[in-house]
This record gives sequence, C-alpha cells and structure tokens, in this order.
Amino acid sequence: MRMYDIIYKKRFGGELSDEEINFFINGYVSGEAADYQASALLMAICISGMAVRETAALAMAMAHSGKVADLSSIKGVKVDKHSTGGVGDTATLVAVPLAAACGAKVAKMSGRGLAHTGGTIDKLESIPGFNAKRSIPEFIDIVKRVGAAVISQSAELAPADKKLYALRDVTATVDCVALIASSIMSKKIAAGCGAVVLDVKTGSGAFMRDPESAFALAKEMVDIGIMAGMTVIAIVTDMDEPLGSAVGNALEVMEAVDALKGRLYHAPLWQVSRLLAQHMLIASGFAGENVDAMIGKAMESGAAYAKFREMIRAEGGDDTVLEDERRFIHASQKISVLCPKEGYIRSVNAKQVGLAAMLLGAGREKKEDRIDHSAGIILKKRAGDHAVAGEEIALLYVNDEKNLPEAREMVCCAFDISKEKPCPRPIVYGTVDRKGIHRFE
Ligand code: URA
Ligand code: CA
Repeated sequence: MRMYDIIYKKRFGGELSDEEINFFINGYVSGEAADYQASALLMAICISGMAVRETAALAMAMAHSGKVADLSSIKGVKVDKHSTGGVGDTATLVAVPLAAACGAKVAKMSGRGLAHTGGTIDKLESIPGFNAKRSIPEFIDIVKRVGAAVISQSAELAPADKKLYALRDVTATVDCVALIASSIMSKKIAAGCGAVVLDVKTGSGAFMRDPESAFALAKEMVDIGIMAGMTVIAIVTDMDEPLGSAVGNALEVMEAVDALKGRLYHAPLWQVSRLLAQHMLIASGFAGENVDAMIGKAMESGAAYAKFREMIRAEGGDDTVLEDERRFIHASQKISVLCPKEGYIRSVNAKQVGLAAMLLGAGREKKEDRIDHSAGIILKKRAGDHAVAGEEIALLYVNDEKNLPEAREMVCCAFDISKEKPCPRPIVYGTVDRKGIHRFE
C-alpha cells in the first residue's frame, strides 16, 4: 500500500477502505507519511467528502493511535459532554455539577481556548490552585469520590488527532464536517466514556454557520459514536450571539456560579445547561425516573452548587473565591461601551465579541499566548432588548490597555441595532439521536 495511491483515490472521490485509513493514520503518526502527503489527503477529503463508514474508520484509527482510557473501575455508565466551541459558552461548568448532583458519573476532558472561542480548562484555571493536568488514575479517583471531574485533554490520547489538527490549522482544512466529526469523536472514544452528550453550535460564532450544516455535523458524530458502541445524543444550539452574558475566564466562572445558585432561570445559558444535564442523565440510564424533578431538587437544595465547589476542591482549587469576587477578578479598569443610537438589539455577533475578549487578554491568538484570567466582557444587552443612545450595552474588564480602543470598537460594532423589534431566535434547534434528527417547532 502507498500513500500516493490513497491520495489519488480520494482525489477522484473514491471510498477508502478501513485498511487504507489505518495505513494513513499509522504512517502519519510514525513519520513514514510526510506532512505534505497528509495535507494533500486532507484537502482531497475536504473536496471529495467521506462516507459515514470512512469517517467512523478515521475516528477509530485516530482514537487507537494512542492510549484509550479504561474507566471500567468506575461503576455504572460514565458520561461525557462536549461542545463544538463557542463564545460565553459556560454550559459545562453548569451542566457537569448539575448532572453529578443528580447521580451521574461525569468524566470529562476539555481543551483550551483559541482565537474567538473559550476553553473550559482556561476558565477553571482562573480559580487559584486549580490543577487540570491529571493522570488517568487521578481522574478516575476524582470521579469515584466526587461524581464529576473535568481535566485537560491528555496528550497520551488520540495523538494522531493532535498532529493532524495542527496541520489542518495551517492548510485551510479545519471546517470540513467529516474531519471535525472524526476529530472530536476520536477524542471522545479514547477518553473512555460509554455515553456522550454533544452540543453542536450554529451561527456567527460557530464552525457551522447555518442550522442545516450543524444538524449534518451532529448526525455524523452520533453515527460515529453508535458505530463505536457508545450512547450519543446531540443537541443543536444557537451560537449567533454569546450563550452567556459573560465572556472571559473568571467572569464566566462567576456566571456559572449564578446559574448554579438558580439566579439565571430565564437565561439561554440556563436553558442549554439544563437540557444538557437532562440528556446526560437520560444517557446515564436515569430515563425512567423523573429527570426534571431530579434537576429541580438538585438546584433548590443547593446540591448542584455544592457539587461544583466539591469538584473544584478535589482538583486543588480554592473554592472560597467563588463567594468573594474581589479575591477572584482583578481588573484595573472597567470600561463601559455605550449604545450609539436608540433601537432594538437585532443581534450581538458572537465571533466579534469573542475576538474582542481575546484582544483584551481573555483568549489566545496563538497556542503559546498567555492569557489574563480576569479580562473579558459583560454584555448588558442581548438580542431582542431595547436600548437608548448612551445606555451601557457592555462592560469591558481590562488590565492591559494595549488593544483597548480596538476591542471597544469591535464590541460596539458587534451590536446590530434596528428600529423594529426583531423576531426572537431559537436557542435550541433540535436534537439528534440514534433514531435520527428531531427539529424543534
Ligand atoms: N474541535 C475538535 O476537536 N476538532 C475539530 O476538528 C474541530 C473542533
Ligand atoms: Ca458565560
């Protein structure tokens, strides 16, 4: 078998066999296949596409390119949660403790933020002492004791994906359904959970700009998971405007605290987090019980918030800062962004807000960049709200003023203001499971 022939076959739309896909992945990890050959094949995949069978074979080959975590010593179903990435998407920090407080065993590996998107590990690392780098035995131990652990993606798992992602990043081959689906699912398979709930984002701040392509990505990931023997449910949710009102690491942790204290029952962040927790419980086998009542009880009793604090302590974090924002968020300046004209907010462009937060120091332009955990943005208005000229629409948390003028301008431009009251946009577009796509409305 030769890489040349595999590239040539895919160039003309041929369907690759499992053996050809394994040959490519093994060869690329070992160094026998060169970067330029892998680049050519990735581009051919982007242009010619792949059948679901091929995508699943690619995910499996990448999942088995390194260690596969064995979580079998944790009793019962282990459930994972994953978002395709967004802005102000703090749902993990709400849904994970909520599901765990109801009895689920949540074992989750997360990534860091890049460009306009945030990463759960950066958010958790804003808490003093929090250590997300855990060995698999430590990970298992925390899940056994607490019921939930969120740790950073282990470098031992799916090394082929890591190497290929770096190549995709510089060869314009990231935004391809087959490659995104196989990349995400390879890590989920290697992480060892039997069940996963996926939050597939659509809109200006997401890979998938329109709901139809988000459903296609969701369907592909669900199908791969099923072929790998997992229980997989996906929800398709809006990422046209940021999910929460906070964008920035410590700010988002504090918003998660508000949600877990039951203060955000009308907010999209709560709606999505609650739906994720429901599906995490259903996927864990609690379907026969009244999942709604379980969630209500975990919230009203304070058990969900207590579980969040317990998980933070178990991972070395000082959870007392959550009760004292002054010890947690250190911004030398808070700068208001004012509404330029009277009207209704038609949309708040998630990508622009995410990039502005990055400029303020909350995110990374390059993987090596350091971040300022206290920097970020609080949105004071959301789509559908009314504002008058001069009213505060956002508040910037700043330490380094270097990019402040540019960030301020970007936040202001992210708000699309019009005379007419806009129709409300859906927060959740639907779900995808083994039976297929279920669109809401
Ligand atoms: N996230 C991943 O892990 N992989 C992709 O390809 C895209 C988003
Ligand atoms: Ca948020």
